[in-house]
Amino acid sequence: MSDILGAIIEKAKAKNKNVVLPEGEDKRVVQAASEVVKAGFARVTLLGNKEEILAANPDVDLTGVNVVDPKTDANADKYAEILFKAREGKINKKTGLLEYADIAAAKQSIMKDYTMYGALMLKAGDVDGLVSGACHSTANTLRPGLQVIKTAAGINTVSSCFIMIAPKAHEYNPDGVAVFADCAINIEPDAAQLADIAISSAETAKNIAGIEPRVAMLSFSTKGSGNDDKYFKSVPKMQEATAIAKNLAPDLKLDGEFQFDAATAPEVGAIKAPDSSVAGKANVFIFPNINAGNIGYKIAQRFGGYMALGPVCQGFAKPINDLSRGCNVEDIIAVVAITALQA
Ligand SMILES: CC(C)(COP(=O)(O)OP(=O)(O)OC[C@H]1O[C@@H](n2cnc3c(N)ncnc32)[C@H](O)[C@@H]1OP(=O)(O)O)[C@@H](O)C(=O)NCCC(=O)NCCS
Repeated sequence: MSDILGAIIEKAKAKNKNVVLPEGEDKRVVQAASEVVKAGFARVTLLGNKEEILAANPDVDLTGVNVVDPKTDANADKYAEILFKAREGKINKKTGLLEYADIAAAKQSIMKDYTMYGALMLKAGDVDGLVSGACHSTANTLRPGLQVIKTAAGINTVSSCFIMIAPKAHEYNPDGVAVFADCAINIEPDAAQLADIAISSAETAKNIAGIEPRVAMLSFSTKGSGNDDKYFKSVPKMQEATAIAKNLAPDLKLDGEFQFDAATAPEVGAIKAPDSSVAGKANVFIFPNINAGNIGYKIAQRFGGYMALGPVCQGFAKPINDLSRGCNVEDIIAVVAITALQA
């Protein structure tokens, strides 16, 4: 286990939050629920029928895990009403009809969609965080949160980042850890969304990765050295995003637009952006779009030997995190710890 993950678990332990895992049908999730409770860094609510879960997982000890069966849960009507009110008047894009005609329709829907059920438990304050996605797509995992939990105060964009842990600290990353965003949710964020991503990532860097954030808005251009007026206008987009973020968070150490070397290498930063407090020493990197972000984190992972912790979702009013469908039990435990610490 990395030192950072160990620190996250220790900090989560002090908070003792309750995290809902809606995927009681997944053996890895059931095993992780048992191990989290045994490790004692969070409480766990697992959704599903207890007899069925025990029959499918005879060797797993569920002592201390709160198993809730939406089909018999006394709170189901309360959650259906919360969902109906939160989505009242909303039209389903696929059918062109109301998402939920009435409370009964909302109840019928949450009996089939336990991720939404978990999101409603979160909205009601009956749990403190949600982790799902071991056997559901990213879109199906995040949509309930986007629809009913919504964004944190002052933030309009839910985004994600990876906490990148270096195999060993080196001259361009003395902290041994960096934050990359957005590599997984927003495909082509505009300037305002990039500013939100930058501010949320700085918060994740501080609260979860445990580093003092210095945020670089990345580009192929440094301080106007390049332009792409002919194609995507990405340079002015990063410049505008930098200005918006500086305005929204004047105390944050944030600057741009920077090439990656101007952001990380002191000798390059000194030449290309001598007046910047971030150039040459950035540890939070905001990519212009998901292509750059996703490719960038995988290069660091595969060529640089970095461990990529995440994606960590950020910007929700209450914490929700998405698992990869290829996750193992250890991955789930790590994401539960991050979620418990975000709560
Ligand atoms: C995040 C994602 C799943 C949302 O897709 P979606 O469900 O089709 O979203 P919609 O456009 O229907 O929006 C649903 C609601 O969420 C809101 N929303 C969507 N994306 C949002 C975001 N990034 N931040 C805040 N709100 C958002 C919408 O405003 C809408 O709200 P409303 O229904 O109350 O009006 C989509 O952006 C996506 O698929 N991203 C890429 C994910 C991916 O493939 N990642 C690869 C993994 S590496």
